[in-house]
Amino acid sequence: MKGIVLAGGLGSRLLPLTKVTNKHLLPVYQEPMIYYPIKTLVNAGIEEILIVTGGNNAGEFLRLLGNGKDFGLKHINYTYQEGEGGIAAALSLAEFFADNGKIVVVLGDNIIENNIRHAVEAFRKQKDGAKIMLKEVPDPSRFGVPVFKGKKIVRVEEKPANPLSNYAVIGIYMYDRRVFDFIKQLKPSQRGELEITDVNNFYIREGAMSWDILDGWWTDAGTFESLQHAGNLVAKTGANKI
Ligand code: G1P
Repeated sequence: MKGIVLAGGLGSRLLPLTKVTNKHLLPVYQEPMIYYPIKTLVNAGIEEILIVTGGNNAGEFLRLLGNGKDFGLKHINYTYQEGEGGIAAALSLAEFFADNGKIVVVLGDNIIENNIRHAVEAFRKQKDGAKIMLKEVPDPSRFGVPVFKGKKIVRVEEKPANPLSNYAVIGIYMYDRRVFDFIKQLKPSQRGELEITDVNNFYIREGAMSWDILDGWWTDAGTFESLQHAGNLVAKTGANKI
């Protein structure tokens, strides 16, 4: 299985920190933000990785990461997203790299305490479809939120004002080859983006979505509060434990 880290976007919620650099190059405690999602993939046994970047200072990713020696990799792939079209638009650039195989996608600002090895193994065995990962959070309206009927997820709502569960759909997604066909059918949302939540809803409607609960802490790092929170969590317990 191949892995993709989405590290584009303009990081506008972190201005002026992102005026001259890419959000994913900012520090989270001792390391640049992008180190954490790369380790999430590597610790799950994924060695073929594509970084989708864009916006300011994209060349600095190459300078920082090179061929991935610091992560035990022999090689890293890169691609560049022109403009900003949302998570699903960034992911569409990975179609050629995925080469009809299954993929694990990690948002470049998502950081976890432990690892996703079991979920990735389960998805390897899953015949086709997709898998999302959930975490209970105090503020679900900031995220994609699953709506349950019993143990079944019937849809995901993106940043609902009145969330119907206390879970966030975290930024780690597993897809089969059909993800790229679904992305081609998307229309921009109210915030003008191709939403990954709409992609997930395609799989849910087809009855092809499984889910797992992540253990250990999870945070994003795309706002001032969450960036500071992420740094504090990493300082306290460390991240990406094997
Ligand atoms: C994105 C997704 C959202 C998900 C979140 C996880 O939100 O749209 O569904 O819960 O990442 O970090 P964004 O960071 O674009 O607001």
